[in-house]
Amino acid sequence: MRSKIISTGSYLPEKILTNKDLEKIVDTSDEWITQRTGIRVRHIADKETTSDLAYKAALEAIDSANVDPLEIDAIIVATVTPDMPLPATALFVQEKLGAKNAFAFDINAACSGFMYALSIADSYIKNNLAKKILVIGAEVLTNMIDWQDRSTCVIFGDGAACVLLDATENEDEGILSMKLHSDGKYTDLMIVEAPGSYKPCSKDVIDNRDIYVKMKGNETFKMAVRHIVEVSKEVLGDVNMEFSDVDLMISHQANRRIIESVGRRAGLPAEKVVISIDKHANTAAASIPLALDWAHKNGEIKKGDILLLNSFGASLTWSAGIIKW
Ligand code: COA
Repeated sequence: MRSKIISTGSYLPEKILTNKDLEKIVDTSDEWITQRTGIRVRHIADKETTSDLAYKAALEAIDSANVDPLEIDAIIVATVTPDMPLPATALFVQEKLGAKNAFAFDINAACSGFMYALSIADSYIKNNLAKKILVIGAEVLTNMIDWQDRSTCVIFGDGAACVLLDATENEDEGILSMKLHSDGKYTDLMIVEAPGSYKPCSKDVIDNRDIYVKMKGNETFKMAVRHIVEVSKEVLGDVNMEFSDVDLMISHQANRRIIESVGRRAGLPAEKVVISIDKHANTAAASIPLALDWAHKNGEIKKGDILLLNSFGASLTWSAGIIKW
């Protein structure tokens, strides 16, 4: 038994913040942001919650596969920005969809969250614990951003995207292999210190701006390129493939220069490297499924194509997967 993506869906909030808009908020420029990151716009959720975004992405995937919500066995939401600490965001998605027969939960692996969730769903399917599973990456990151910090506020955005997995007996399609890694030595590379058991909610943590993302961008950048290339080689090796077998690489959209650097080291031509960061910025767990959905809707993925998915996130998580479409 293998798991196969039978449909995709996505949702980006209507409100857009351009690089020019950001020039009025912090000391930055459209030119710097475009050249250093590849980002042109980011979407802002305003009053919508993470589960609102996740629901809309999931609904599109369900509708396009012509599946009844009652057929959904499980819903996994990967997010670092849940609606609230308790209950899980996935339960709000379940209720909004009317997917009464599903079990639902969230996972947090930062920007690798979607990949970790995909691997969990893949295992459920292989072990016959569930068949139709919604794997969603959804984030409202713009509430967690320090709008006074130009090194972080220009790179993040809100959004959600989803894949619907189903079981297939065809051994020649679907998720062929996945590799996951993490390293707790580098938790300070990208961190939001509060509120949590480490620093419970208080006026102090708000005054100290501990509720916002702090990131060592440059160090993270270098580690990202190295780890993504290594884990990609590892997962390709698992299925006796090489970079030359890859039809399309879909990476976490953190920075256009990271993705291009990985593409160059892999020897992949530009047309085999999906870039969607210009349209939605870094949306953490939502970014790989957003890029996948964008490529799918754009007709860039054909039946039988070999897709290489890879991720890198705080701090540190990294992963890769091979899918035969
Ligand atoms: N506008 C203008 N200048 C800016 C700026 C902004 N928004 N942000 C930083 N700068 C300045 C810095 O102050 C620095 O100035 P200085 O040379 O005078 O000191 C200069 O630009 C270079 O800063 P640096 O941090 O070295 O830039 P960079 O090329 O590494 O780009 C990131 C910064 C954040 C875009 C980049 O490091 C990155 O994308 N990192 C990885 C992010 C990531 O993958 N995160 C984890 C997964 S989500």
